[in-house]
Amino acid sequence: MGLTEFIAGQIWLQEYPIHYAGCDFNARMSVIRLPDSTLLLHSPCEIDPLTKKAISALGDVAYIVAPGSYHYLYIPSAQAAFPEAETYICPGIERKRPEIDFDWFLADQPPEDWADTLDQVLVRGNKYIWEVAFLHKPSRTLLLVDLIENFTDQTPNVNWQLKLWWKVVFHMWDHPKPAPEYQLGWKDKAAASISLKRILDWDFERVILSHGDLIDKDAKAIVQDAWKAPMATNK
Ligand SMILES: [Fe+2]
Repeated sequence: MGLTEFIAGQIWLQEYPIHYAGCDFNARMSVIRLPDSTLLLHSPCEIDPLTKKAISALGDVAYIVAPGSYHYLYIPSAQAAFPEAETYICPGIERKRPEIDFDWFLADQPPEDWADTLDQVLVRGNKYIWEVAFLHKPSRTLLLVDLIENFTDQTPNVNWQLKLWWKVVFHMWDHPKPAPEYQLGWKDKAAASISLKRILDWDFERVILSHGDLIDKDAKAIVQDAWKAPMATNK
């Protein structure tokens, strides 16, 4: 599971195994090269010497991004490997994990440093889970962590526990939907709808997500369908 080029010269991906609540599945890091040739690590995996070497061959890491309230695990590892980089976290991580060092919060607008390449939205309205969604403008790629999961019979490295929950309880096997924490926690659907609508207004044709198969066909229709429940506001 090494680093593989996804968008030529601009985005590389690396999958890595996760064990959470009895379930085995993969997560995915994105490495994004900005126009000045510096790199942004989005939801980093553990940076072992081989991974560090593969990333360093692409450029200097300037930014480490923890984009979601469950996506901070290897931030300290990335910081140790790339001490010059600035760390941006999704708001809320500072309360969950006060020991994690960071420089900036991710906001509802991109910082100037990457605004030419990436747009971003802080998704509001959930009581259990939060994230900042990104749009990679040059390649029309939406980057999510947990706002859509896409587990199918083709997805590698999932155990029977995950299959059972995803098929029987959450009905999200081969049916892209937000992570269970999202589905259980929509508290303010009006606020969620405003955030999700901003994302749907973006011009994208594919989705990088953290868990499950990438989406590269009918992306907007699939995303719209996945977010039907939170966007059905009870007026
Ligand atoms: Fe996740």
